[in-house]
Amino acid sequence: MKELLKRMHKWMSDYMRSFYSDDEEVQLGITIKETHTGYVTTNSIELAKFLKLNEHDTELAEIIGLFHDVGRFRQYSIYKTFNDADSEDHADLGLKVIDELDFFKEISDADNDLIHFAIKNHNKKIIEPTDDERKILFAKIIRDADKLDIYRVLQPYLAQENADKMPKFIKGKERAEISPDFVKKFVAGEQVDYREIRTNGDRKIVRLMWLYDVNFSWTMKKIVERGYIEQIVDALPMNEDVAKGVERLREHVRNICETN
Ligand SMILES: [Fe+2]
Repeated sequence: MKELLKRMHKWMSDYMRSFYSDDEEVQLGITIKETHTGYVTTNSIELAKFLKLNEHDTELAEIIGLFHDVGRFRQYSIYKTFNDADSEDHADLGLKVIDELDFFKEISDADNDLIHFAIKNHNKKIIEPTDDERKILFAKIIRDADKLDIYRVLQPYLAQENADKMPKFIKGKERAEISPDFVKKFVAGEQVDYREIRTNGDRKIVRLMWLYDVNFSWTMKKIVERGYIEQIVDALPMNEDVAKGVERLREHVRNICETN
């Protein structure tokens, strides 16, 4: 599979480059996704190695990382947005792109199934139920590898004054405060609906809530080491309830760091 992987990497970088544009904002969006693809691929390999997967499975994790956001490029070129709600689900779109590629025919049906499942489920609210443990494992790996890098991507835009400089495609609403409903759910450790995001504060709460969906200690430790949690908490409009939610979250983070 080594040689196939080489061809896949070459195809992917040529493909991403074919979306380069003279329009500064378009180019910024494409560059962000190109860099993200690189980091998520590396994260996937490292996480697979941490989990002591064999060579073949580590290569599968690499392929999933490499292609997980392939739909982003067609999404942006058709709809001029990275917002799935305003266009179509970028994971499902990515599968359509993949199905047009010949080199996936060189992979076994079982492996192709696994790749499809992981990519399809990388961005869904929850992983769709299945009895197939391997599918769940690879979906968990890509979700962790992806989240870890999204924290890196969003880091520069945390402070309110920088939020206003955010490119349009990831921009939040200007108000800093958190909606009361989001505070309530955060304190209760419940999930929120992304579609109900109204303010920058809401967006930050959602990013903290992602931590409840981190699967492996490897990922959580990296998130802690890189200071992503502290940076978001520092940028959060604080009150007694929010502080309670943060305490609950810290407890969860400690627990995950101590597992596996
Ligand atoms: Fe994605």
